Amino acid sequence: MDKQSPIGVFDSGLGGLTVLKELVSSLPDYDYIYLGDNARTPYGPRDFETVYAYTLQSVQWLFAQGCPLVILACNTASAKALRTIQQRDLPVMDDPSRRVLGVIRPTTEVIGDYSESGHIGILGTAGTVESCSYPVELAKFFPDKFVHQLACPDWVPLVESGDYLNNTVADPVIRTQLVELLAQNDDIDTILLACTHYPLLYPRIRAMLPPDIDVVTQGEIVAESLVAYLKRHPEMQQRLSKAGEVSFFTTGSTDQFEQGATLFWGAKVKANHVELP
Ligand code: DGL
Repeated sequence: MDKQSPIGVFDSGLGGLTVLKELVSSLPDYDYIYLGDNARTPYGPRDFETVYAYTLQSVQWLFAQGCPLVILACNTASAKALRTIQQRDLPVMDDPSRRVLGVIRPTTEVIGDYSESGHIGILGTAGTVESCSYPVELAKFFPDKFVHQLACPDWVPLVESGDYLNNTVADPVIRTQLVELLAQNDDIDTILLACTHYPLLYPRIRAMLPPDIDVVTQGEIVAESLVAYLKRHPEMQQRLSKAGEVSFFTTGSTDQFEQGATLFWGAKVKANHVELP
């Protein structure tokens, strides 16, 4: 195959790297293009129309790079833009056989199995929590489980700024939200980090919670779901190029992206700048 047809992975910033890392680990032969809209992060406090418009621009840009498949590695974009893009935009595009997938559906398909008490805590952005996507989707697969949600509006800025590396700054911000979530119900035994930025806070979160509370991140869940999707869709699997290359693009500063991404990726990351309309 001479033309690259990578899997596009999109997030409002650095968070989607936590998903990309697991995708590359599970499906290392494929090519990937990561796009972080760091210039306009965070998406969490933005209204539906804005998140939809930014996400659509990003998806169109990834399509223009040759991606037949795009993963919205962002809960906020998955909650606010995915359905409209799938149902309204994709069918009228020049190539309607391209696909866009999100992270909420694969997560809600399995997260109920993690909880014995039946009480699941969901931590996400204001946009994700207000959309009620998690309670609505989870009820389809696990009607007997209870969902307790909380928005953590300060957590994405904590990650994007790099302040999460400073425990003195990060710990009080993280602790306040955990206390507030657990106050909603004594039986919460599973906490889902329903924002792809939050796994960067995982060690701090884990250390603050009792060991009998399971803290679940989405990367592996999404990767497993993509493996299954590609098995079910050999026509897509065959379209994707497989040179094992990963490239990184940001709408923000490449220096800042490289600094944050390299730390997380564990190897030097070279970022390219892109302007979206
Ligand atoms: N990583 C995005 C998510 O999963 C963060 C959204 C934001 O920019 O607020 O929701």
